[in-house]
Amino acid sequence: MEQRPLGGTTLDTSVVGLGAGQIGEADVTEAEAGALLNAALDLGVTLVDTALGYGTSEERIGRHLGRRRHEFVLSSKGGSGVPGYEDWSSASVRAGLEQTLRRTRSERVDVYLLHSCPLEVLQRGDLQETLDDAAAQGLIGVAGYSGDNDALAYAASSGRFAAVECSVNVVDRWNLHHVVGREPELGVIAKRPIANAPWRFPERPTGHYAELYWERLQALDLDPGDLGGADLDWPELALRFTAYAPGVHTAIVGTAKPDHLRRAVEAASRGPLPPEVLAELDAAWDRVGRDWPSST
Ligand SMILES: NC(=O)c1ccc[n+]([C@@H]2O[C@H](COP(=O)([O-])OP(=O)(O)OC[C@H]3O[C@@H](n4cnc5c(N)ncnc54)[C@H](OP(=O)(O)O)[C@@H]3O)[C@@H](O)[C@H]2O)c1
Repeated sequence: MEQRPLGGTTLDTSVVGLGAGQIGEADVTEAEAGALLNAALDLGVTLVDTALGYGTSEERIGRHLGRRRHEFVLSSKGGSGVPGYEDWSSASVRAGLEQTLRRTRSERVDVYLLHSCPLEVLQRGDLQETLDDAAAQGLIGVAGYSGDNDALAYAASSGRFAAVECSVNVVDRWNLHHVVGREPELGVIAKRPIANAPWRFPERPTGHYAELYWERLQALDLDPGDLGGADLDWPELALRFTAYAPGVHTAIVGTAKPDHLRRAVEAASRGPLPPEVLAELDAAWDRVGRDWPSST
């Protein structure tokens, strides 16, 4: 699979990465998690994204990929939710990082992101020293920020982070239009790249994570098979849009199913969407989506 440098860092990542949120969920068995993680590396995926807060995801990465640790870039996140520590304190960032290192059986987290911390925390700037110390000790490769909208814009232009993770997809473009690509050296990991696959739901998925994107997809009112005469389906169209969006380096598909990941890798191998398809997506966005913020 195509590999790209993650912005100005020395890390190379595959155009499709794995979002390992789903494998931390209780309804995914240990055997399924192991099969998915190993299948990902076998498919040529070289970035695995997890977080302290993703259930058993970090432990499962450690258990199933500990021996293949040299084959992928590990991205994880923390800063809050560490029992016994005040959220967004230096001690909480450090304790969370140490937990991630233990759980993932890693000597280093290649990309360590502050996980959706509020703008005010970023503006304080006092977590920088903790991240710098961890980098100087070799515990993290590069420091980054994971979040959206104004906080993302602040983080991206602050010069403090080498990478960011943010929502980018066919129904979520604020980050893409306002932040991504503005700082050429900034590595960009696109989360929610297929918009949580809202086309799965014939009816509004009330209360489901995908509900907002389902609503937006209805509003765009597009038939992927008709766009630009290219005869695509939604999974392929959505993935190719994000993976080749200017400024995006890797698109992390969240899945617990090897077949879904394989389809994403195959879709990416077909390259950027044809210009006629992009033009129709742009026109629909301009009609109804221009004021939509990114989903956090
Ligand atoms: N704040 C943050 O930092 C943050 C927030 C959100 C996400 N993330 C990261 O980004 C990753 C990806 O985001 P995401 O999982 O929210 O969104 P996503 O990748 O756009 O969508 C994932 C959803 O789509 C389904 N899916 C995948 N391929 C499919 C296919 N071919 N056909 C039908 N359904 C398909 C998956 O279910 P199946 O398991 O059935 O495939 C899953 O429910 C996460 O795993 C996480 O690593 C970070």
